[in-house]
Amino acid sequence: MTVQERVEKLLAQMTPAEKAGQLTQYFYFRLPPDAPGPVLEFDRDEQPRMVEARLGEGLVGSLLFLTDPAEINRLQRLAVEGNRFGIPALVGFDVVHGLRTVFPVPIAMAASWDLEVIEAGQAVAAREARAVGIHWAFAPMVDIARDPRWGRIIEGAGEDPYLGAAVAVAQVRGFQGQEMGTPERIIAGPKHFAGYGYALGGRDYDEVDLSDSQLWNVVLPPFRAAIEAGAGNVMTAYMDLNGIPATGSGWLFTDLLRDTLGFDGFVVSDANAVRNLVTHGFAADLTDAGARAVNAGVDMEMAISGAAYAHLPEALEAGEVDMAAVDASVRRILAAKVRMGLLDDPYVDEDRARQVLADPAHRDVARVAAERSAVLLRNENGLLPLDATALGSVAVIGPLADSPRDTIGPWVFDFDLDETVTVLAGVRARAGGDRSGPGAATPDHAVRVGYARGVPVVQREFPSLFDMFGGNTPSDPDGFDDDAEFRRAVDLAAGADVAIVVVGEWQNMIGEMASRSSLELPGRQLELLQAVVGTGTPVVLVVMNGRPLDLRWPAANVPAILDVWYPGTQGGTAVANLLFGDVSPGGKLPFTWPRTVGQVPMTYAHTISHEPENQARRYWDEASTPLFPFGYGLSYGRFTYTNLTVDEPSTTTRGTVTVSVEVANTGDREADEVVQLYLHQRHGTASRPVRELKGFERVTLAAGESRTISFPVGPDERRYWNAAVRDWVTDASTFDVWVGGDSTADLTTRFEVTK
Ligand code: NOJ
Repeated sequence: MTVQERVEKLLAQMTPAEKAGQLTQYFYFRLPPDAPGPVLEFDRDEQPRMVEARLGEGLVGSLLFLTDPAEINRLQRLAVEGNRFGIPALVGFDVVHGLRTVFPVPIAMAASWDLEVIEAGQAVAAREARAVGIHWAFAPMVDIARDPRWGRIIEGAGEDPYLGAAVAVAQVRGFQGQEMGTPERIIAGPKHFAGYGYALGGRDYDEVDLSDSQLWNVVLPPFRAAIEAGAGNVMTAYMDLNGIPATGSGWLFTDLLRDTLGFDGFVVSDANAVRNLVTHGFAADLTDAGARAVNAGVDMEMAISGAAYAHLPEALEAGEVDMAAVDASVRRILAAKVRMGLLDDPYVDEDRARQVLADPAHRDVARVAAERSAVLLRNENGLLPLDATALGSVAVIGPLADSPRDTIGPWVFDFDLDETVTVLAGVRARAGGDRSGPGAATPDHAVRVGYARGVPVVQREFPSLFDMFGGNTPSDPDGFDDDAEFRRAVDLAAGADVAIVVVGEWQNMIGEMASRSSLELPGRQLELLQAVVGTGTPVVLVVMNGRPLDLRWPAANVPAILDVWYPGTQGGTAVANLLFGDVSPGGKLPFTWPRTVGQVPMTYAHTISHEPENQARRYWDEASTPLFPFGYGLSYGRFTYTNLTVDEPSTTTRGTVTVSVEVANTGDREADEVVQLYLHQRHGTASRPVRELKGFERVTLAAGESRTISFPVGPDERRYWNAAVRDWVTDASTFDVWVGGDSTADLTTRFEVTK
């Protein structure tokens, strides 16, 4: 039987309630007994009991928030045995940056500008997820984010639609493979459709007012790319988009997503977002909310409790929704189940799951990803790499230097802290002669590695969304003496040959519902850094973050700054390999790094507007330029660009030119560079951004090596959506081209485009 025949056969026999059940996805979790609460409005024991009862009645289409294979098998059995047709549940999960093997956070992976590493990482995540019984990732998050106050900037690929689209494709391929149903892969679900990253004031879930030009030119390209790569699912967004709740918008999910972008998979709501159509003041009640979401094109409701779709039989009865619309949604869900092989074999082998989760090859992929995502922001006088053979002692200082939970970052739930390598453990293993720890090396010369945390753990003022699951950095014990610890750290630094200071945001300070009104280093971290620098010992600053932080003082006063993000399970090993020069940093910023929160939102791809010569002085109290530009990052090599050429001086609006450049590593070490091409249209039927990324390639060059890199620049690179004609246009114009190592590259040429 074909997929379609199997689907139709089942559908023909289902009652309205059974159909509504297939369209409902429930959370299933048991909170730890000491979980702080109530964070969510439900009785915590009642929730799993209710879901099990529904499973028993055959009224659950999908489950989420499970990672234990035995538990997944148990619930899957309830689903199969409870359903008249034996239809299993699709199991979804936020496989955001790994399952057991934790990869660097998504913004870090984007900073690698390395599409192979990104794809390989998500393939590992998919393999682990599939082994435990998960069929579907609520990822990648492809929301463009230009306001770092928004905590979810960490989950995406940053500010740029071109980079965002390339990263989205790599992630979809990594998760899903060639097609839905590829062995050891899972369904990819790009989210949140659409515009969620434009939350007003950077406040999570706040309304979004988005111009058509931003929507088409900036927000949609990563979604379009993910859909073209075959993503099987798309998730809705929580907020109002231009005054309409996204989850109830037929324009978004039917006209735009399906009819215009050609999406043929299934749509899931964000958690409780259908129910919340009532909260928004949009739907009158749950029945109305369910009917309007189905009518808008939202196939499945993700619910914590009290699903609106449970009321679909009433809505059908009342004629508020057509059976044809419900059937179309059920078809999409059943087709996904058939394609994923669920109807043939819904269970997983728990022993095999354990083996897959422990696969050492997965840790290697994570280590390489962490090495390739780090961004070297400053390196005065070549302080880095450190020469372990020439150092007597190193002081590792800072509250994030030895915190496994913070090293892996937010949005992980199945981690193993015992195997997580912190920066301290990595440095000890690499240089300190500690051969017992994870990632242990065998250095010829053992450096004395001292450690002091320096400042207390800072807890958020309001609890995080995820604090209820436990596993956060524990608070300091009563009686912790801040001042004594601070002095101990400074003394340690004073007596060392070099100090490695690891600071940033604690992992629960960023992510969902973790927006901030400031970008400053929390607590006394800056004061600690200043005191350590004041000792005169050379300082390497290692930053853990998922958003740009206010590093104005360090950027002027600390000789070396390495941004390692939240680097994951193998983070410390990777950081040590970078610091001691086993590998060169080669990542580049996927966002513009502002000087201060007062400058945000900020993007390199702004239009020229009025008085361009005064652009850098649009504030009278602060420069309008960023601290570090988009695309920026140093390495241990030295790259020079020459011979920038365009193969034809002119082409037509339908033609393609090839831009070539010679890049040479004139330094004395092998290193990576991300060669970036930027384009600007001088005049036309709209004002276009001063520069836009339209090509990139990460290359490794040995010392003294040079290579010619070429980029096609055709209609796809030049077209844009024009708000005046309300359509895509490719203008005849003069185009400036820059190629270099960041968005301020000055090597330039141009070509003409005629009608
Ligand atoms: C809410 C988040 O917005 C979404 O991204 C996530 O996938 C769901 N919760 C499920 O955890």
